[in-house]
Amino acid sequence: MHTIKNITCIGAGYVGGPTMSVIAQKNPDIKVTVVDLNKTRIDAWNSDDLSLLPIYEPGLDSVVKEARNRNLFFSTDVDKAIDEADMIFISVNTPTKTYGKGKGQAADLKYIELCARQIARVAKNDKIVVEKSTLPVRTADAIKSILNNTGNGVNFHILSNPEFLAEGTAMADLENPDRVLIGGENEDAIQALVNVYAKWVPKAKIITTNLWSSELSKLVANAFLAQRVSSINSISELCEVTGANVDEVANAIGMDSRIGSKFLKASVGFGGSCFQKDILNLVYIARSYNLNEVADYWQQVISMNDHQKQRFSSNIIKTLYNTVNGKNIVFYGWAFKKDTNDTRESAAIYVADHLLDEEANIIVYDPKVSAEQVYSDLDYLGTRGPEENRRFVTVVNNPVAASKGAHAIAVLTEWDEFKSLDWKSIYANMFKPAFIFDGRNVLDKNSIVEIGFSYKSIGK
Ligand SMILES: NC(=O)c1ccc[n+]([C@@H]2O[C@H](COP(=O)([O-])OP(=O)(O)OC[C@H]3O[C@@H](n4cnc5c(N)ncnc54)[C@H](O)[C@@H]3O)[C@@H](O)[C@H]2O)c1
Repeated sequence: MHTIKNITCIGAGYVGGPTMSVIAQKNPDIKVTVVDLNKTRIDAWNSDDLSLLPIYEPGLDSVVKEARNRNLFFSTDVDKAIDEADMIFISVNTPTKTYGKGKGQAADLKYIELCARQIARVAKNDKIVVEKSTLPVRTADAIKSILNNTGNGVNFHILSNPEFLAEGTAMADLENPDRVLIGGENEDAIQALVNVYAKWVPKAKIITTNLWSSELSKLVANAFLAQRVSSINSISELCEVTGANVDEVANAIGMDSRIGSKFLKASVGFGGSCFQKDILNLVYIARSYNLNEVADYWQQVISMNDHQKQRFSSNIIKTLYNTVNGKNIVFYGWAFKKDTNDTRESAAIYVADHLLDEEANIIVYDPKVSAEQVYSDLDYLGTRGPEENRRFVTVVNNPVAASKGAHAIAVLTEWDEFKSLDWKSIYANMFKPAFIFDGRNVLDKNSIVEIGFSYKSIGK
């Protein structure tokens, strides 16, 4: 049986960094090296000042502090790390394709293929290759084909080990996962990876399946989670016109043990790098097998989410007397959810885009997101030029000062600190009527209304 001494992880992002930190923490006898092409990112992982780690995730700094330079290393020397490893995790990004066949739906597997080719080129002894990235079902076939046609006599075993952590709670999710999923064909290889996790995860929670079930399960898990958000968001609109209250409805249905209470929080819509991309990918796969009803069914989860974001910004415009031209709208929050600095696919980006179309001025405050990131998210949309984005959007680091001369406040991320801001001073700073649009239903309506605000939330 394989005993693993050296693990390499290609990709030092939101998954590779935290996952490998915990694997290294729990397996002090295994040397874990995380590599990335992005030197700035690796330098940040190696920074002495732990507040400069490239990823904000509560609890990550202390685990990095414990394991780094003991048995956890961050490097840009990909070839060397591949050569040394018995087990290689591929944890690179798999974004939605922006060109060619499958544009806007299929996962772009170019980074995965590059990794496979690099492993094939460098490897001199047998290796277990673990798919950690989220991949379309049957990707392992392609990886196998690249690895097994090198002609250098090296044996590769491919495993699928999708990651179920959620950003913002990644460390707790890794420490105490609901389950660890390992798909594979070779029993020894599967066992070798089981042993790594068994250092801290109870055996009963480590499940093994065939490769294809494992690959598909990750896409399906995200699709089901996103579907719950879109389902409750669809009901939020119905609540608003009928006088029902979406929180009350969510509570009432969530207490049914067959439904369950989690992920029934109505909001401006889901974001993040995974939900939309993975559902689009599922839709694309279904379509490619001519399963059009299956594809349409899941596509609707995305359409509902787009509608919810659009509905939120339209409501701001309508409430501000049908024009936001030249008005100052303050965004509290830019990250796609609290406790992360990740902004990929954040609802805030799309709400801002819509309001900028109407020539509003936007002032952004987020405790963990830099001005550079806000501008780069807007520039990436390509709706307007970088100069215009910088002219109409200001990023500030004081939430109360941000409200000076504001016509409205929109809460886009559920950061805890927003609940206890100095709302009286904020009110005093603003034009009247002073509007709040709470896209996360986080503020206490009674105290906010008592101060004098006109308060609008989702689904009430
Ligand atoms: N972010 C999440 O919450 C989450 C959760 C579960 C699964 N996933 C999946 O995990 C994968 C990684 O996601 P992420 O959020 O960590 O992405 P990320 O963009 O944060 O990190 C990926 C890293 O891989 C690096 N990279 C790309 N190609 C490389 C190469 N050839 N050699 C070396 N480095 C390379 C990039 O520079 C980048 O730093 C994706 O497939 C994603 O779907 C993400």
